[in-house]
Amino acid sequence: MTRTVYIETYGCQMNVSDAELMYGTLQASGYTPVEGPEGADVVLVNTCAIRENAEQRVIGRLGELRRDLKPGAVLGVTGCMAQRLGPRLLETDTRVQLVVGPDAYRMLPQLIDGARGGERTSATDFDLEEHYEDVVARRFEGVKAWIPVQRGCDYKCTYCIVPTTRGPERSRRLAEVVRETQEVVAQGLTEVILLGQTVNSYHDGTHDFADLLRAVGAVDGIRRVRYTSPHPNDFSDRVIAAMAETPTVCEHVHLPMQSGSTSMLKRMLRRYTREAYLDCVARLRAAMPGLGLTTDIIVGFPGETDEEFADTLALVREVRFDDAFTFKFSMREGTPATRMPAEWLIPDAVIDARYDTLLATVRGIARERNLGRLGERMEVLVEKEARKGELLQCRSRDFKTVLVQGPTAWIGRYLTVELTGTTGATFTGTPVQERQPLPMAG
Ligand code: 5AD
Ligand code: SF4
Repeated sequence: MTRTVYIETYGCQMNVSDAELMYGTLQASGYTPVEGPEGADVVLVNTCAIRENAEQRVIGRLGELRRDLKPGAVLGVTGCMAQRLGPRLLETDTRVQLVVGPDAYRMLPQLIDGARGGERTSATDFDLEEHYEDVVARRFEGVKAWIPVQRGCDYKCTYCIVPTTRGPERSRRLAEVVRETQEVVAQGLTEVILLGQTVNSYHDGTHDFADLLRAVGAVDGIRRVRYTSPHPNDFSDRVIAAMAETPTVCEHVHLPMQSGSTSMLKRMLRRYTREAYLDCVARLRAAMPGLGLTTDIIVGFPGETDEEFADTLALVREVRFDDAFTFKFSMREGTPATRMPAEWLIPDAVIDARYDTLLATVRGIARERNLGRLGERMEVLVEKEARKGELLQCRSRDFKTVLVQGPTAWIGRYLTVELTGTTGATFTGTPVQERQPLPMAG
């Protein structure tokens, strides 16, 4: 009888990609993936530690799962929270038997066997050689593939837990990334998203990110290449040229800004100034007119003055992002921010108010930009059924979501659509016929 495994994933795309590797490893050991925890022999909660509320959700979820699990099922925690807390998780939750960090997934089958025999284990050593090259990822997304190209992070932004949970930066070899791209194309997928914490600092000892973009972009059958997330400091002219000159690389960059104030960026140890960020945006836009640009912004980092926050708002207005993920600062144990003076902490009420202002600004700009695009025609990839209504969710090259009416048989196809409406954030569109000359009437 085959055993079943369910993995519930929180957090970023790197975690989604890791879950595919875990499923791959476990499938090779005879496990069958299932869609829910009920009845599963193994349940893994694949966690995020980036902000405190992400961890609170997981703790709440573990409590719920404890009730749903079938007797004898193995419950494990993987991902960044597992790495961060290690054996402490075994102490706080007595039902959890396994705590496995991102570099130890290869050991899952053995660790699960041990847990079935009653063991409780934490495996959180970093392994700088581990790229899971021989593991065949079990992909669930039907039309696009996430491909990890770099693990870990060598920046040490003062708010960020990632260098602690993911370890130092290391890149996969270019040839391996190209091989995996060829494999996913052979499976019928036409879009890849290259993943790394600071993906454009990719370097495998011989090749940089520019080489990687050109090599992946040239794989036969690939129609779209994306990547996330780059760091503004690693946008060399070579990388920008590779992006602009490789037709399959999509015209979208997610460029985390975090703050628009040079003094704040310095406290965050982002290693660029407001001007350098703007310069990066200008170089990208000059190379790729019509580039979609999105970002991440944190409000309420320690010491944030009214002027610094005003600089962030002003930069948002100046750049006019297509969209932005906005976050309230969350203090993470072990990060350099914890050593900042206590009087620098920003009261919650101030953070809340700034957050609301920022969000309204971001949304207002996105709405204006999107309204200005109604009537435009563009190529979209049909990704999946939309959550609501009988619509299909499609994606443009510049990363706009477009909802289109049509049969599910269209999933995986490319359509030309005309943008007919927008909520301010997403679009509705109508497929347009590629114009054929009409036959002459009699
Ligand atoms: N608090 C709030 N937001 C954070 N991010 C990273 N660490 C924190 C933190 N401690 C945000 C950054 C990053 C995104 C993935 O999460 O904006 O780009
Ligand atoms: Fe965190 Fe900074 Fe590394 Fe991004 S670059 S993962 S924000 S430390």
